[in-house]
Amino acid sequence: MSQADQLIIFDTTLRDGEQSPGASMTKDEKVRIGKALEKLRVDVIEAGFPIASQGDFEAVSAVANVVKDSTVCGLARALDKDIDCAGEALKAANSARIHTFIATSPIHMQHKLRMTPDQVVEQAVHAVKRARRYTDNVEFSAEDAGRSEIDFLCRIFEAVIDAGASTLNVPDTVGYAMPHQFGDLIHRMRERIPNADKAIFSVHCHNDLGLAVANSLSAVSNGARQVECTINGLGERAGNASLEEVVMAVRTRPDTFSCQTRLDSTQIVACSKLVSNITGFPVQPNKAIVGANAFAHESGIHQDGVLKSRETYEIMRAEDVGWSQNRMVLGKHSGRNAFRTRLESLGISFESEEELNAAFSRFKDLADKKHEIFDEDLQALVTDTKTESFNERVKLIALKVCSETGETPHAEVTLSIDGEEELGVASGGGPVDAAFKAIESIVNSGTELQLYSVNNITSGTDAQGEVTVRLEKGGRIANGQGADTDIVIASAKAYINAVNKILEPVEKAHPQTGDV
Ligand code: KIV
Ligand code: ZN
Repeated sequence: MSQADQLIIFDTTLRDGEQSPGASMTKDEKVRIGKALEKLRVDVIEAGFPIASQGDFEAVSAVANVVKDSTVCGLARALDKDIDCAGEALKAANSARIHTFIATSPIHMQHKLRMTPDQVVEQAVHAVKRARRYTDNVEFSAEDAGRSEIDFLCRIFEAVIDAGASTLNVPDTVGYAMPHQFGDLIHRMRERIPNADKAIFSVHCHNDLGLAVANSLSAVSNGARQVECTINGLGERAGNASLEEVVMAVRTRPDTFSCQTRLDSTQIVACSKLVSNITGFPVQPNKAIVGANAFAHESGIHQDGVLKSRETYEIMRAEDVGWSQNRMVLGKHSGRNAFRTRLESLGISFESEEELNAAFSRFKDLADKKHEIFDEDLQALVTDTKTESFNERVKLIALKVCSETGETPHAEVTLSIDGEEELGVASGGGPVDAAFKAIESIVNSGTELQLYSVNNITSGTDAQGEVTVRLEKGGRIANGQGADTDIVIASAKAYINAVNKILEPVEKAHPQTGDV
């Protein structure tokens, strides 16, 4: 594919996606998502904002360490300390990109930066030159470009190309743009900037007016060749352009777009489920591409049409984005090799033999309770195993819950805290409430429950329930996950997972509004 034909997909789920309130991710979770994005063949993975915190620095380094087929990118404000930190975090990457940015709209320059346009240009040029000390692959973003003046954008972009930037990003930071205007902006800048042919134009659209994908596609029609987007459209406020929608629009309408992506679209649904599970942000059923109803045909007329000829009502094939029928893949008698091989085919690997053994033993337990084990069960089981390895301080040893008509539900829980076993008992409005109260009677986390959600992983009453719990303490948020055929146990696991995360001390700054 020539450069003009390729649309570069830059995924920022791990950076802008994580800026969604409540969507914080641990280092291990970022690594898991990073590997899934690599398998999806995303071109650039923005792994975080390394200067934000020690945790973010380590997460970016860890992603740079394991992801080898995608470029790994770190965000940096146009400041020496940010750029040096990003350069350091990306040291291990096969292919590293530094993404530096400064605001260019009159409102941001005057009120946020308190800088003159001349100073902004000077700082941007300096930042790009500094970033080039670490890598040839430097992206410059004009924050709030959607509300910036075209003359100033042309001036600053020309200067940063001369300084060594190879990607120019045009963010609609506040989701203000309209598709025809945004496309026109890209078109005019490409015509007016004398050295425009030396860089790739990129767009980064927010969804405040529900136009992030439309604006991104309009930019692509006008020559943008990189789109910044996120899985499930996760992101600050109303989110970013949704990766799956952009990718499938370009793929489904080759008559409209003269470019293609190199993504393996069959990995889209798996990525969507992983991100939803880790962040606790459910995917709405009617969400394009990845919603549970996206390919379901409820009405009789539609069903009849689809049966006669799929194209009557379907413009894409469900299997092309990774929707598959639940398939029975393993059972009680499957051995370790079959288990390992099936997981490998799902792109799941283990760090150590110990981790594989722990997952295999869970698989055997599950096979005792559940006759047929599907791919989705295996994925949840691995999530659970990996999640548990994070549960360093608090571990679930045993849980007994009594729930009876006319009686108040009652729970008894045994936890191991830093290796010491403790028993907690409590009553509650329901069995889950009683279990959470029993856990709290031991851990006294002082957190507030913000979200509790249960999904069945496959169909049938013997299906595993997958639970997400979101806890908040002093402004900090942690999401916990747990899966089990018994949803009260899955709930307790999820609660304990969130408690473990909130016990970890973390300080983190926001790239656009926070001080570092
Ligand atoms: O929305 C935005 O402007 C950003 C920049 C940091 C690219 O996220
Ligand atoms: Zn953004």
